[in-house]
Amino acid sequence: MNFVNTDMTVKRLTGAIGAELSGIELTGPDYDNIFPAVHEAFLEHAVVVLRGQDLDPAQLVAFSKKFGKLESHVLSQFNNKDHPEVLYISNVKDKGKPIGAINAGQYWHSDLSYMNKPTQASLLHSKEIPSYGGDTMFVNMRKAYEDLSNAMKAFLDPLTAVHDYTNAYDTFFKDIPDRPPLTDEEKAKVPPVVHPVIRTHPETGAKALYVNPGFTRRINELSSEESRAILDYLFRHFQQPKYIYRHTWAEGDLVIWDNRCTCHFAVADYDMNENRHMIRCSVEGDVPR
Ligand code: OGA
Ligand code: MN
Repeated sequence: MNFVNTDMTVKRLTGAIGAELSGIELTGPDYDNIFPAVHEAFLEHAVVVLRGQDLDPAQLVAFSKKFGKLESHVLSQFNNKDHPEVLYISNVKDKGKPIGAINAGQYWHSDLSYMNKPTQASLLHSKEIPSYGGDTMFVNMRKAYEDLSNAMKAFLDPLTAVHDYTNAYDTFFKDIPDRPPLTDEEKAKVPPVVHPVIRTHPETGAKALYVNPGFTRRINELSSEESRAILDYLFRHFQQPKYIYRHTWAEGDLVIWDNRCTCHFAVADYDMNENRHMIRCSVEGDVPR
């Protein structure tokens, strides 16, 4: 079975970000017909939601590959054995041990911004969801950038920032018992990197704010106090409700986001005795410029 582009309808989800695409069933094996329309909506709306899908790891891999080269997460124990490009985002335990990244992304972040080549697109597909809670919030960092004054844009434009995976461990994970500290071997894979504070999207040419509370440690060109103040302001600025879409998951949702111009936040308000089980692929991006 294949799809026809014209079957797809696009409905915006908020004023700032997100669109729901209907009329598509991603069964494969071949996604050539539908991919251009999905990709166009992805670039325009930064987050796209496809409901009612039922993809196994191989199908998620096949569709995700249309976006580019897939990457495997540093927490390799949570990757699917047959398809290492598939990461489990899950609170499900097997013999008392989590099978997936638990407490993933419970702070504003852009995926793998702590890597030299951060994630371009993430594709998250829900298999089991709790009876309430566990939403994911997405923010449009392009709009947040555009609304800054010209003076602030000019000030930020030449600046660079350090991104470091261990920042999330130092700040957000430190009080969470079931997130074990990174091993030395894992740490060695994620040394701090430097990225511009404002990045230009390689496909749309639009500028976006590229700092996030999860992984951004400091702005290099400022004193540490100045850096803290400016980062805190920028974090407060982009978290305004007018830039945000909050996704309430249903089983079978596939949500695809563009990490080059968004941040996201997993809301940890669900009952940990209920399962929240997702599979994810991520697509390698460019070096931010
Ligand atoms: C991710 C992530 C959010 C969630 O998969 O990158 O941050 O709601 N997950 O599970
Ligand atoms: Mn994430």
